Parts: sequence; C-alpha cells; structure tokens
Amino acid sequence: MFPPDFAWGAATSAYQIEGGWQADGKGPSIWDTFCHEKGRVFGEHDGDVACNSYELWEKDLECIQQLGLTHYRLSVSWARLLPDGTTRHVNLKGVQYYNKVIDDLLACNVTPMITLYHFDLPQALQDQGGWKSPDIVTLFDSYARFCFQTFGDRVKLWLTINEPYVCAKFGHEDGIHAPGLKEPGITAYLVGHNMLRAHAMAWHSYNSTYRPKQKGAVSLAINSDWLEPLNPDCDEDVAATERARAFGLGWFTWPVFVTGDYPEIMRSAIDAQSKKMGYGGGSRLPSFLKDEPAILGTADFFALNYYTSRKVKAGGGCEQMLCIKSDQDAKEVLDPSWPICGVSWQAVVPNGLRNLLKYIKDTFNNPAVYITENGFSQVGPLQIEDVQRCGCYKDTIMEMAKAIEEDGVDVRGYFAWSLLDNFEWADGFRVRFGLFHVDLSNGKRPRTIYRSGQEYTKIIMKYKH
Ligand code: FCB
Repeated sequence: MFPPDFAWGAATSAYQIEGGWQADGKGPSIWDTFCHEKGRVFGEHDGDVACNSYELWEKDLECIQQLGLTHYRLSVSWARLLPDGTTRHVNLKGVQYYNKVIDDLLACNVTPMITLYHFDLPQALQDQGGWKSPDIVTLFDSYARFCFQTFGDRVKLWLTINEPYVCAKFGHEDGIHAPGLKEPGITAYLVGHNMLRAHAMAWHSYNSTYRPKQKGAVSLAINSDWLEPLNPDCDEDVAATERARAFGLGWFTWPVFVTGDYPEIMRSAIDAQSKKMGYGGGSRLPSFLKDEPAILGTADFFALNYYTSRKVKAGGGCEQMLCIKSDQDAKEVLDPSWPICGVSWQAVVPNGLRNLLKYIKDTFNNPAVYITENGFSQVGPLQIEDVQRCGCYKDTIMEMAKAIEEDGVDVRGYFAWSLLDNFEWADGFRVRFGLFHVDLSNGKRPRTIYRSGQEYTKIIMKYKH
C-alpha cells in the first residue's frame, strides 16, 4: 500500500521544544521578544524552557525510537547557530548541539529532515527590518549555505521556510505571531515576496554548490486547507473558492511550481480591491525582477502541511481595510457536520487530505509529495487515552493511502505533528499536539506516550517494509 522507502515521521520545531533560550551563547529570536511582551501569548506562556529539548535531546530520541519512526523533522534555530543572524559570528555550541542530534538520529537509523526557518528570526535581523527588508534575501542565503556546508554531508532533506503564509499574515498583518506587526495594506505581500526570493536564492545555492556532492533535496513547507464551494451550484461560491485557493495554496506555489509568478486571480483581485478603495500606488503585490534568480522550479518536492478543510462562500470580512481577507473577498467556514478536534479552527476532515493531494497532483504536474505536518489538537483536561485522535490518525492515513493507490499521487512520506506536546505559538501550552505528553509542571519534563502515539506505531509497524 505504501512504497518501500516511505518516510514515517514526526515533526517539531526549535522554538516550540528546545528551551535554552539564552543557553551557551544563543542570540534572542523574535519569538523570545514576542513572548516576553505582555498580552501576546495565551497565559503569558513562553518557550524559555518549553520541553527543554536543548538539554533533554536524548529523551526525544527515546521517544522517536519508541514510535519506530524512520524519519524525524526538526528545525534548527538560526539565532542558536548565528546569534546575530550573520555568519560573522558562529556559535559553536549551537553547531555541536545539532551535530549531536543529527549523528544520534543517523546512528539509530532515523533520517533527519531539517527546516531552516520555522518562525524564529534572530532579533538582531528584525531590528534591521526583518522580512520586510530586501537585505533578508542574502542574509537568509548565507545562513542556508552555512547550514548546507555544516550539516549537508549528513542531512539530505531540507526545507527552507516553514509556512510563509503564516509568517506573512499572522506575523505582519494580524500581529498574532512574532514579530507582532499589525500592518494591513502591503506588508504581508512584501514579506511573502522576500520569503520567496530568499527561498529561491537558497535553493539555487544548494543546486549549484552543494547538490553535486551532497545529493539532497530542498523545498519549502506550504500550509493549505482543502477548500471547496459551500454551494457547488452557486457560481459566486465557485468563483470565491478559486480566489481563496489562489490566496491560500496559490500565493507561494504558483511562483515556485507553475509560472514563476503569483496567480493571476490573486493579482487581479488585489488590484481590483485597491482600486475600489481608492488606493493610489501601483500594484500592492510586488513583481519579480527579470534579472534575479528564477523562482520557478526551485523545489525538489512538494511539502504540504495539512490540518483541516473549509467551505467557501462569496464575500469577505474587514470591508473597510485593505488586507488579505478583503482582497480575497471569500469567506472560509467549517461545515457544521464536521467533528471538531481540540481547537475550534480544526475540523476533522480526513478525506480533505485525499482531495487536496489529488488537486496537487493535477495542478503541479504530479510532484513527489511529503506531508510534512498533519496532526490533531487536544485542549482542556489531559487525556492520555485520546481515543478520538487515534481515529483521526487512522482515518487520515487511510485517505492518504487511497490517494496513493487509487489516485496515483506520488506521496513519499508522512510526518505527524508533533512528536511532543509543545509551545503552540499564540496558544501557548494550552493546545497539545503531541504523540507524547510533556509534563511541564515537572522540572524533568517527563514524556508519556499518548494512546494515539501507540496507534501511530501500530500503523507504522503494519506498513513499514
Ligand atoms: C503549523 C506550524 C506548527 C504547528 C502546527 C499546529 O502551522 O507549522 O509549528 O504550530 O501548525
């Protein structure tokens, strides 16, 4: 049912699990700053210690082995490796830490997949404009080269940027993620643009300098819900769905996989809205320049983070403002018949993954796909016997199997989010996504497997070759 070398993984990210926010010369990141400001994060939680994976990596490795994973996706912290964000100063303790993680994984026959940027920009670079500044493109490229050079002899699966959509919108327009900017208008589009340029430049660096010897693969992780019209017989809902797909999945995939530029539907919707609201400047969506490294073709596989599905109807929110949602002019809602898992935004829609995979196959010319994140939230009283989540994993993985067998989608691997209960961004530790529970009231941060962790292991054992 699954190809012989199928990747069975779990994922984490540095800020969400490591702690050690000031340990051994690490520089501060925008998430350190953001969490230390009052009122930013649920319950004033922060990742200062989190799961303390910086000190307890061996415990994580035990969890990985207990699950029987073939792959582990982690992110490296830019500010732990390069405290001021530049290669002028390398923090050797940070290098040592990740070297040990990588070597231990390989010694246990677990393949690492590394994300270079999972939301945690060095604060020093934010102070120079962060993702809004065009300087970030070469700064990111230098950081990426440093990582390829340092770890690429052993790491063959790379993701440059995790969820540029979330960074751009949540971090720079809604202000609910670090760096906490609330700048509707053009900022999110500018940030997204620089992220694409940074990704592409790093991919080209890998391709020309490192790939010949290291022979790995590089992509970027795209988050997307599966979207379908609320009323498939209503032309407005169908058109709204097309727009919502363009702004969601399309924003970062058209440039990389389809045309080298943003979806036409997206640009015309933005331009129409700008005109309607009397905006005097040019297009609020930047253009790629002819003489910069090509964006098209800068991904060796398709990396998808899937959590839920939505129905789409015409008409957006925030009518008085120029922002992504008003440009998109389409509203995404949950179907009341879908069960909710934990947080209110997450309906459980296993066949949404199958539909999305089929759509990706048809739209992007049958790429190799890794599901780099999929998981189920838990809130409220701790439930180690998380029967609902067992079913969610089982059903979703079976839908993925159908996508492979019946629809011919080239899925190469699946990473559960997450190995551990961890710092869930603006939701702090309120929302738990782990296959292992982490007891934060105990200084030793003991890890306890959930029933869903055991269920996942059963699935892996059944299908692993
Ligand atoms: C994704 C993030 C990941 C985690 C999950 C629940 O958007 O990439 O870090 O927070 O959502």
